[in-house]
Amino acid sequence: MNRRFFLFFAVSLFVFTAGFGQQTAFQWQQLAPGVWKSVVGSPDGITPLAVAEVKPRLDGLQKLGERAFPTQLSASVHEKNDGKTLVRFPLQKDEQLFGFGLNFKSVQQRGTIKTLHVDHYNGKDNGRTHAPVPFYVSSLGYGVLINSARYITVYAGTGVLAEGKNSPPEMNRNSQRNWNAQPYSDAVEMVIPAAGTEVYIFAGRTPMEVVQRYNLYCGGGTLPPKWGLGFTHRTPTLFTDKQILNEVAEFEAKGYPLSFVGLEPGWQSHSYPNSFVWDSTRFPHPDQFLKQLATKNIRSNLWINPYVSSHSPIFKDVLPYTGSHTVWVGRVPDFNLAPARQLYKDLFSKQHLSIGVSGYKVDEVDGYDNWLWPDVAKFPSGIGSEQMRQIYGLQFQKMTDGWFREKNQRTYGLVRGSNAGASALPYVIYNDYYDHRDFITALCTSSFAGVLWTPEARTSKTPEEWLRRMQTVCFSPMAMLNAWADGTKPWTFPDVAEDVKSVMQLRMQLLPYLYTTFAQYHFEGKPPIRAMNLVDGFSFDEKTTAAQLNSTDNPYAMAVKQDIKDQFMVGDYLLVAPLFAGETSRKVVLPPGNWYDFYTGKLAGKGEVIEIKPGLSAIPVYVKEGGIIPMIPPLLHTPGESEKLPLQIRYYGITESSWNLYDDDGITFDYEKGKYTWTRLDVKKNKKGQLTGSWLAPKDAGFHYTSATWEFMTR
Ligand code: GAL
Repeated sequence: MNRRFFLFFAVSLFVFTAGFGQQTAFQWQQLAPGVWKSVVGSPDGITPLAVAEVKPRLDGLQKLGERAFPTQLSASVHEKNDGKTLVRFPLQKDEQLFGFGLNFKSVQQRGTIKTLHVDHYNGKDNGRTHAPVPFYVSSLGYGVLINSARYITVYAGTGVLAEGKNSPPEMNRNSQRNWNAQPYSDAVEMVIPAAGTEVYIFAGRTPMEVVQRYNLYCGGGTLPPKWGLGFTHRTPTLFTDKQILNEVAEFEAKGYPLSFVGLEPGWQSHSYPNSFVWDSTRFPHPDQFLKQLATKNIRSNLWINPYVSSHSPIFKDVLPYTGSHTVWVGRVPDFNLAPARQLYKDLFSKQHLSIGVSGYKVDEVDGYDNWLWPDVAKFPSGIGSEQMRQIYGLQFQKMTDGWFREKNQRTYGLVRGSNAGASALPYVIYNDYYDHRDFITALCTSSFAGVLWTPEARTSKTPEEWLRRMQTVCFSPMAMLNAWADGTKPWTFPDVAEDVKSVMQLRMQLLPYLYTTFAQYHFEGKPPIRAMNLVDGFSFDEKTTAAQLNSTDNPYAMAVKQDIKDQFMVGDYLLVAPLFAGETSRKVVLPPGNWYDFYTGKLAGKGEVIEIKPGLSAIPVYVKEGGIIPMIPPLLHTPGESEKLPLQIRYYGITESSWNLYDDDGITFDYEKGKYTWTRLDVKKNKKGQLTGSWLAPKDAGFHYTSATWEFMTR
C-alpha cells in the first residue's frame, strides 16, 4: 500500500499544460482496499459525505480485498478556472458508464450531459432529480465520486479536446457518409462550481464490486426493520383515526396483507406549512389510536415536510434559526444549527416517537424551483442556498435516523431528496410523476446511486394497469399503495382483486429472502435491487464479453450493449421482468447460465433473449441456476418479534448450491453488536444423484424459523 501511495504521489507532481489552464494530476491517497481519495484546491466545508456522517465498513472493504488503482485514471487531471474546479477522467472506446444519480429514462449514461441538482423528477434525465448523486460506475470496473454539494455539470463522454491524444479526425458531412453528429469523446469532464473538491475512486473486478465498495464506504446499506418489508398503505389525507382503523380492519377481513399505514398531511392541525402536532378533531387520542394499531402488529408512518407553520408550538423558538425565504409561507429551518435540530427533536419525540410512531415520509425536500427557496435565499448558518438544497433531504434523513437509533428502534421511511452517502440511511425515494416505465428504470438506476426507490401505486385507468403496477410495487424496496388523494384500495378493481392479493401475499412469503437480500446490502454492500449490468458476466466488459460480442448473430450479446431498463434483479436469484399496461408480450434478456420460471420451475432459457406471453395474473419472474428461495406462509401482518415460523425453501436448478440465510430480531440495532445469525442452506446430490436440501438451524433463541420443507421446483 505504501509503495502504491508513493507511486501515485510521484505521478501527481507532473503538471500538464495542454489547453489554456494548468492541468494537474491528482494526488491519490489510499483509504481502504480499493478506495482512494484526492483533495484538490480548497473544498467546501459542507459535503454530502460529511452531512451523512458516513462511517466506512472497513471489515466489509477488507473482505473484498486489495485491488490495483485503475490504471487509466492515473491520467486524470484537474484545474482551476474562473473560480471553479474542472476535472477530467479518461475513457476507453468501448467503456460503458452508469450512475450519476437516480435517473428515470436510461441506465447507460455515456454521451449524456447533466447538471446535478436536487429536484422533483419531471420527465427528463437532465440531472434534476431526487438523488443527483455525483458518482458513476464504469463497465471496466471502477467508480468515481465527487464529494461536493454543488450543482455539478457533467459531460459524460461528450467533449472533444482540440489537442487530445484520442480525438477523432475532422470529417466532411458533404462527402463522408459516416460523419457523426456526436464525435467520439474520450473523457468524463465535470465543472464543480467551487474552489476545490474531494474526489474518491472505488476499484472493482466488476461494476458490482465497485458499487459494493461505494456502499460499504458509505457505511453499508441500510437494514430495514422486518415490518418495513411488508405491505404499506397510505390513507386519504383527511381520514380520521376511526376511518383508518376501519380500513385496517377491511384489509384483514378481505385477506390483504398490511404491515404499516401511512398518514398523510391531515393528521396535523395545520399542513403546508406544518404544525407537526395532531389534529384533535380527527385524532382526539393519538396514543390510543397507535396502541390499537400496535395490537394488530401494524406500524405507522407520518407525512411531513420540514416547513414550519406559525401554528406550530416550536414556531417562535425556531424563528432565529430559519432562512430568509419561506416554503408555502412556512419558515425553513437551518438544520446545520444545533438549536434547530434540538427543537425538532424535542417536539417530534414528544408528539410522535414517544407514543409509538415508527417513521416519517419526508416530502418536498426536493421540490420544484417555484416551491422551494430560491438560490438567493440566505441561511443563518452561513451555508449557501445551493448547498442547502443539495443536502437538505440527506440531513433530515440523518437527523431522524438518529432519533430512532437513540431508542434502539429501526425506522424505515420515505423521502424525496437525497444525495451521495445515503446508503446506510433507512429511507426510500418516491415521486409524483407516475410514469410506470420510468418508475421501473429508476429501480435499475437506484442500484448505482446507493439509494432505494419505490414505484408506488396510486390509481390506474384500467384494472390491467392497476394489476401491473401492484405487481411491480411488490418487487421493490417498499411495497406501497399511496392512496392519499384517490382513496384506492388493493381491491378497487374487482376484476383483478384476487391477482393483486396473490402478489401481495407473495411479497409476504418472500420476507426471509428479502430480508437476507437487505442484509447483503448492509454487510456486503450489494444493493437489494440490481440493474442487469450489475449481474456477473453481464456487463459489456471487453475482458469478459469480447468473444460473445464478436458474433453478429448473438442477440444476447447485442442486448448487453443496449440499455436494459425494464427488467431487474431482486437479490442474488430473482430476475423480474414487468409488463406495462397494453402489453401482452415482451422480451427478456437472460444472462449466461440457466434461468427457470419462478412459478413452474421450468427452464426458461440461458444467456439469450426470450420472447414471452405470460398472461395478466402474475408478473414474470425468473430464477438463476442454483436459486435457493426461503419463504414463509403468507401472513397478514409482519411476523411478531417472537413468532416462530416454518420455512418453505424452493430450489431451482440442477446443480449443487448453497446460500446463507440471515436473521436477527428484526427491530433493534443489536445486529450492529453482532446479534445475528447466518445459516447455510445447502443443496447437494446424494449417492443416487438426486438433489437434497439441508440446513443446520442455529440454536439461537432469537432465530425465527423452526423447520424447513424443501421444494425442488425443477423436475
Ligand atoms: C405530495 C406527495 C404525495 C402526497 C401529497 C400530500 O407532495 O408526493 O405522495 O404525500 O404530497 O399532500
